[in-house]
Amino acid sequence: MELKRNVGYAAAKLVEDGNIVGLGTGSTTLYFLEKLGKRIIDEELEILGIPTSYQSFLLAKENGIPVTTLEEHSIDIAVDGADEVDSRLNLIKGGGAAHTMEKIVDSAADKFIVIVDDSKVVDKLGAFPVPVEVIPQACRTVSDHVKQFGGVPALRMGQRKGGPVITDNGNFVIDVKFESIEDPAYLEKELNYIPGVVENGIFFGVTDEVLVGSSEGIKSLK
Ligand code: 5RP
Repeated sequence: MELKRNVGYAAAKLVEDGNIVGLGTGSTTLYFLEKLGKRIIDEELEILGIPTSYQSFLLAKENGIPVTTLEEHSIDIAVDGADEVDSRLNLIKGGGAAHTMEKIVDSAADKFIVIVDDSKVVDKLGAFPVPVEVIPQACRTVSDHVKQFGGVPALRMGQRKGGPVITDNGNFVIDVKFESIEDPAYLEKELNYIPGVVENGIFFGVTDEVLVGSSEGIKSLK
C-alpha cells in the first residue's frame, strides 16, 4: 500500500497548472487522485480531469477535481495503473475491467505516465491474463475464437452470486490466459479483430514513462 501511495503522490507532482489530466482507475491511482485534489486546493491550481471509469469519476468528485470530457478537451497528461509492465513499457491493463475507456483516454494524452509497484514489472507480458471486454451475446463465440490463439478464456465473475462482472459500458469481461505473449502488438490487434470484442487490455507502445515504487524508492523507466 505504501509503495502505491508513494508513486501515486509522485505522479501528482508532475501535473502542472492548467493541465487537462486523464484520471486512471484502480487502487494505485486512488492515491494519485487524493494528492492531485489536495494540490488543487492548496496551490489553487486550475486543472480539469477526464475520468477513465465511474470509479475515477466518483473519486475525482470526492477529491475536488473538476471533470470534463474528451469532447471538450484534449489531454495533456494521463496517469494510470497497470497489471503488468514489460521491459519495453508495454502493458496489460483491465484488472479493474476499465481498460476500454482507459485505452481511449491514455492513448489520447500527450504524455502517458504509468504508476506501479515493483511486483508489476516483468520481462515479458503474459503471467497476468489479458482482459477482453465483450458484448455479452458474443461471449461463447469470442471464447471459442481465443482458444485458436492458444488462449484459455474465463468469464470474469462478479460479486453477485453466479453473475458476471458488468463493465461501465454494460459488457462482460473474458480473462484470457496465454502461456506467454511473444508479440504483444500482434496479439492486441488480433484480439480486437474478433467479432464481439470491444477492446482488450494489451497496451502496446502507448506508455511514455513508468514510475515504479519499491522499498528502495521510486525508479523512472522511459
Ligand atoms: C483497471 C486497471 C488498473 O489500472 C490496473 O488493474 C491496476 O490496478 P491497481 O492499481 O489496483 O493494482 O487497469 O482496469
